[in-house]
Amino acid sequence: METVVSGIRSTGKLHLGNYYGAIQNFVKMQHEYKCYFFIADLHSLTTHPTPDNLHGNVKQVLVEYLAAGIDPEKATIYIQSDVPEIAELYLYMNMNAYMGELERSTSFKDKVRANPDNVNAGLLTYPVLMAADILIHKATKVPVGKDQEQHLEMARTFGNRFNRLYNNDYFPEPYAFSFGESLVKIPGLDGKGKMGKSEGEANAVYLSDSPEVIRKKVMRAVTDGGPTTENQEKPTEIQNLFDLMKVVSTPDTYTHFDNLYNNVQIRYGDLKKQLAEDMIIATAPIREKINDIAADAPYLRQVARYGAVKARESAAQTIKDVREIIGFRNF
Ligand code: TYM
Repeated sequence: METVVSGIRSTGKLHLGNYYGAIQNFVKMQHEYKCYFFIADLHSLTTHPTPDNLHGNVKQVLVEYLAAGIDPEKATIYIQSDVPEIAELYLYMNMNAYMGELERSTSFKDKVRANPDNVNAGLLTYPVLMAADILIHKATKVPVGKDQEQHLEMARTFGNRFNRLYNNDYFPEPYAFSFGESLVKIPGLDGKGKMGKSEGEANAVYLSDSPEVIRKKVMRAVTDGGPTTENQEKPTEIQNLFDLMKVVSTPDTYTHFDNLYNNVQIRYGDLKKQLAEDMIIATAPIREKINDIAADAPYLRQVARYGAVKARESAAQTIKDVREIIGFRNF
């Protein structure tokens, strides 16, 4: 059976981008593959959270994984920092990762631009840690959104380089995975790029947002003055709303509004109202479970401990093999 690994950084509440880009696939894949889904708390240290923030954010992701339907009996759910073998593999992988290629990574360049005062080494070697996350379980399928594609390419580079250096084929090649034809990119509500935590609170719709908050955010989404001719190409901000509709609404609803747009009869207020109601329906099953799960501390502890034990079993085997391959042998 193929092995699947994926993770989400513990940087706060999860949004529709995380859900449609990643979690929805996690839930489906747990029935078909050997799955490891983790909370990337080590990755979140690049932004220097306080201990309380770190703990709260890890809990938030764990709760939302469970509320979304990831089943700890089917998939191994764990917290990255509970598996020190990952940090050990990260160290070995760092020896074969080169400054030039790390500096060329798009996400590194974006982060340097966004926050030039905090260009720490952890940010530079972020893709190496991510490769260690994946290679530690020798995974081949990694369900992620489109923004992670380059990181997967780097994970393959590092795994293959290790294999070549030691003249073996220990690590299989991991590939980004989605059930659809292509990897998903969920746009935000600001009329520009993707939905994201760092793009501003109003840009993202969170799985935990109340119906009132969702309505308010969607009604404020950026639009233009409306189409002026039939079958006109949609500008980005309008295309984004249609892209969101494609994932949360029925095909009939989508076609209905698409026709209105093409016939120059669309009223954006109606489109937004429908979009907000469909987002509320899509997120309801998750939202309704979040509070109950969050209140059950013994259950959360049990899930995290059980997951850590299972993840460490797999990780320890890899580290044992890797140490042997590298040449750390007993005297
Ligand atoms: P992170 O925490 O930024 O995002 C978690 C997952 O959500 C997806 N995602 C999106 N998908 C579609 N549209 C969007 N607007 C959108 N926003 C976020 C991301 O693609 C991702 O799948 N580096 C990773 C975490 C990580 C990881 C790993 C993933 C660490 N180690 C090993 C896979 C395997 C990250 O920062 O994701």
